[in-house]
Amino acid sequence: MGLLSDHRVVVTGVGDIGGVVAATIAEHGADVEVWDRDQDALDALGMASRCVDVTDADAVAAAVNDCFSTDTLTGLVTSAGVLSMAPVVDLDPVDWRRVIDVNLTGTFLCCQAGARRMLSEEPPAVGRSIVTFSSIGGLRGEPDIAHYSASKFGVIGFTQSLARELGPSGIRVNSVCPGAVDSRMNTEIIEVYATDEGVDPGEVEQTIVDSTPLGRLSTPDDVAGTVVYLLSDLAKFVTSEAIAITGGLVF
Ligand SMILES: NC(=O)c1ccc[n+]([C@@H]2O[C@H](COP(=O)([O-])OP(=O)(O)OC[C@H]3O[C@@H](n4cnc5c(N)ncnc54)[C@H](O)[C@@H]3O)[C@@H](O)[C@H]2O)c1
Repeated sequence: MGLLSDHRVVVTGVGDIGGVVAATIAEHGADVEVWDRDQDALDALGMASRCVDVTDADAVAAAVNDCFSTDTLTGLVTSAGVLSMAPVVDLDPVDWRRVIDVNLTGTFLCCQAGARRMLSEEPPAVGRSIVTFSSIGGLRGEPDIAHYSASKFGVIGFTQSLARELGPSGIRVNSVCPGAVDSRMNTEIIEVYATDEGVDPGEVEQTIVDSTPLGRLSTPDDVAGTVVYLLSDLAKFVTSEAIAITGGLVF
């Protein structure tokens, strides 16, 4: 029996972190369906999948209703997200709206549809849990990512409200806040900061590592472990939390 046996979980966004998260959830015994707007990324992962744009309310609602059609939905993980970087004075409102639309509105649409379905179903034998993706950028603002940070602070507030609404029905809702994860997204951030500071990207990365008590960047696997815990009944009395997965990064 795996930790997530009898769980049926949708994971959105199968990039560097979400793909590992989905595979790890499956390794722990859950049935998993992954959603992304990028069909090639879905094909590369080789899991049960569906091409869904999380900003499309009708597509999200249809996908939530279709998935695991003969059984209950027990879990939802909203990892689909985008990053762009610019100081506020240069930030194009189009970019602001795109980042808020995917990261915050996309999270809302998936959670709304998922919650509606869960509330319409008989509670399954295992606990139900929603995990949203915030970021260390949802716990503190940094230069050049005001729009990303605003979206990720928003995810935490949204998550806390939803946890209060769904708690009486026994559905838990928590956020994860990854720090500097060894990934393409983090490489982009490090390269922009290196350019801003006129230093080598390796120096920026070393500064992050030196500020991290556990002494390294985090990995997608570090994030996956926390998501598995939050989906599982080990976390049966944990809701409304925003859990930092940063190796203790000092800020
Ligand atoms: N990588 C990091 O260092 C880091 C740190 C903190 C938080 N995060 C957050 O973790 C999550 C996953 O990050 P990642 O590194 O895997 O990112 P990634 O860019 O590798 O993957 C994101 C995935 O989301 C998908 N996506 C984007 N817009 C979509 C849409 N409208 N509909 C459906 N799918 C869409 C992309 O196609 C991609 O596959 C994101 O929410 C990100 O903000 C990442």
